[in-house]
Amino acid sequence: MIIKDKTFEPYIAEQQIEEAVRSLAAKINADYSGKNLFFLGVLNGSFMFCADLLKQIAHPCQISFVKVASYEGTGSKGHVDELIGLVSDLKGKDVIILEDIVDTGLTLQKIYSMIDHDEPKSLEVATLLFKPDAFQGKQAPKYVGIEIPDDFVVGYGLDYDGFGRNIPSILKLKTTN
Ligand code: IMP
Ligand code: MG
Repeated sequence: MIIKDKTFEPYIAEQQIEEAVRSLAAKINADYSGKNLFFLGVLNGSFMFCADLLKQIAHPCQISFVKVASYEGTGSKGHVDELIGLVSDLKGKDVIILEDIVDTGLTLQKIYSMIDHDEPKSLEVATLLFKPDAFQGKQAPKYVGIEIPDDFVVGYGLDYDGFGRNIPSILKLKTTN
């Protein structure tokens, strides 16, 4: 399949995604009984994962969404990161950040630093996909759906230059060699 100017090939089927989401939900359901569960979805990529996962959460819970915006600052500062849409009532909550994919982990790092002062009771990460070979953070996400090699993937919310998010399965960039 061609998306914009690149060719992608089938990689993770819809059924395999469904199984991964179901298994993540089961783990979260087992760990968060009686807790003050608050999900924080990271837009845009996680919208499909959030919707499918939340339908399988068996406990009372809340969800809100954030977006990490990166833009060129003025002067010598280079680029500035800002967290858009942050809810300020995380205090005392058992927060789970929901990511479509954790690659280098830098996005997560930024989110951690920006919500730390909100004093959540606990803070974990659930991600559909994880690239352990690319990860530079200290702590790997606690809830991982599927580990993948350092390939570029699209579909199920993930994009290539804004396209491909609507594809229900996951495709990977075809390498020519
Ligand atoms: P990190 O900050 O390097 O962990 O990257 C996180 C963000 O980069 C993800 O939330 C995605 O939006 C994007 N990203 C990383 N790898 C891929 C990929 O293979 N396909 C599409 N987007 C990706
Ligand atoms: Mg993302």
